[in-house]
Amino acid sequence: MNSPHSAQQAPSEPIRFYHRGEVVSVDGVRTTRSVLDWLREDAHCTGTKEGCNEGDCGACTVVIGELDGQGALQLASVNACIQFLPTLDGKALFTVEDLQPQCATACTKHGDAALHPVQQAMVECHGSQCGFCTPGFVMSLWSSYELHQQAGTRPSRQQLADDLSGNLCRCTGYRPILDAGQRMFDLPAVRLDRAAVVQALQGLRRAQGLAYAAPVALPEGPRLDHFHAPATLEALAALREARPQARLLAGSTDIGLWVNKQFRDVGELIYLGGVAELRRVEQRGDQLYIGAGALLEDAWRALVQRAPALADVWLRFASPPIRHAGTMGGNVANGSPIGDAPPILMALDAEIELRRGARVRRMPLTEFYLDYMKNALEPGEFVQGLAVPLAAFARQVRGYKISKRFDCDISALCAGMAIALDGDTVASVRLAYGGMAATVRRAAQAEAALLGKPWTQATVRAAQAALALDFKPLSDMRASAAFRLQVAQNLLQRLWLETRPGDPLPASATSVFSVLPHAAA
Ligand SMILES: Cc1cc2nc3c(=O)[nH]c(=O)nc-3n(C[C@H](O)[C@H](O)[C@H](O)COP(=O)(O)OP(=O)(O)OC[C@H]3O[C@@H](n4cnc5c(N)ncnc54)[C@H](O)[C@@H]3O)c2cc1C
Ligand code: FES
Ligand code: FES
Repeated sequence: MNSPHSAQQAPSEPIRFYHRGEVVSVDGVRTTRSVLDWLREDAHCTGTKEGCNEGDCGACTVVIGELDGQGALQLASVNACIQFLPTLDGKALFTVEDLQPQCATACTKHGDAALHPVQQAMVECHGSQCGFCTPGFVMSLWSSYELHQQAGTRPSRQQLADDLSGNLCRCTGYRPILDAGQRMFDLPAVRLDRAAVVQALQGLRRAQGLAYAAPVALPEGPRLDHFHAPATLEALAALREARPQARLLAGSTDIGLWVNKQFRDVGELIYLGGVAELRRVEQRGDQLYIGAGALLEDAWRALVQRAPALADVWLRFASPPIRHAGTMGGNVANGSPIGDAPPILMALDAEIELRRGARVRRMPLTEFYLDYMKNALEPGEFVQGLAVPLAAFARQVRGYKISKRFDCDISALCAGMAIALDGDTVASVRLAYGGMAATVRRAAQAEAALLGKPWTQATVRAAQAALALDFKPLSDMRASAAFRLQVAQNLLQRLWLETRPGDPLPASATSVFSVLPHAAA
């Protein structure tokens, strides 16, 4: 094969991206070098800070710009600490340095201070004390600012709080920062020159994708590490089949932590982010199709549009910067027993679509997980997408996430439930739980205790008892076994309270998010 992705001897091309008003070309850096390390150590842009180095604190928040299918610029906040530099190829990188005063002297519009409205609002509202978190907050706010200026809208205070749920501040407190988030829209507007960025990004397009390689010094001797970023689904399928030993890289919100925290050697990488077909979320016939590379934010939005009660899990799934990078395929393929998407998708009867070369096969998601972190993927195969029957949204669908912290926390357990009633009788039911076993799975015995029975408190009690036969959960740092089982049983009660015939609790009684306008938008 003569494809640029064909083999070890493939030529390496430099990584090119737009940064601080110009196209930057980078070569020779390790494939797993983080955007944060590059910024601070190579580009000497030290405004972006390192706090946790694992996507949790938001001190490293930057904004990435990409062209969408229509050629328009889309901006999204991400955590620079867990993004690898080659993933920036063809994109624009914005950091807090891009917001520094552009017109300090002789400016008639902005006066002497000439701070960006986000910065000016932070000053006026006392949104910064020690300042360590501030660049991260400012970039999350700038991302919201640009989005809303573009759309001609203003976020509610709760929307701003959601936008900032991936940014931690230990000294200022969040009220003044939220005040700044509202104040910034009252100040004279300063907008990004999108046309210049679009023009630069058009010039960075690669029909063949990127083939990058960099030497790495290991104790056993030097090695050349490869980073392939195919541009089409066909090229990805061929490359994956030819390189089954390579690691697939999607949003790196799991893999970034393996590198930063476990110092794992992830070797050769095949990056999925350049394959536009894989990112699609669309209705196909009587199914909602979610490409494996669809960003978590896009995929959850589509699910919530059809089942608004899932807003709780969407908006509490990690944080906006994680959801702007992480993918639905990554969440499902990673196969963590406490991943949030699989229980919801199982409750919706989702099928998973797998591809190896030209062969495409599907199976119910319930059959995909074989054991703890083991799945049905064969060598050379990858997850191509997920398909949810639209009929599944006709049931009453719920998603319940239980975690120690409300925002940006991994679940102790997560449940996806769907129920359809025929009068007072349970006509169909799906109960899927994460955090209760070595894999996410459905509660067969509890479901059997409900099916065909009257939807009453007595039936719920019988199902709660059956749940104890379905699962023998573990105790770990997130929750004890007893807590998990009790909560799993209590969630059945909650489902009943919310759906009991004639007297259901309103969504506003049980969820803060389901009453928000942006959740179902
Ligand atoms: C701060 C933080 C908070 C988080 N909060 C949550 C949370 O609330 N809920 C939750 O469920 N998760 C959470 N996560 C975990 C993570 O964000 C998700 O699992 C995410 O969906 C992973 O997707 P990714 O695209 O980043 O995957 P990656 O990290 O790129 O890859 C993960 C794994 O999936 C494989 N993979 C990726 N795509 C494919 C594919 N198409 N085919 C086959 N294999 C593939 C990779 O090879 C790798 O083994 C959090 C992570 C962080 C850092
Ligand atoms: S340093 Fe904490 S999220 Fe990146
Ligand atoms: S201002 Fe000190 S951590 Fe936020």
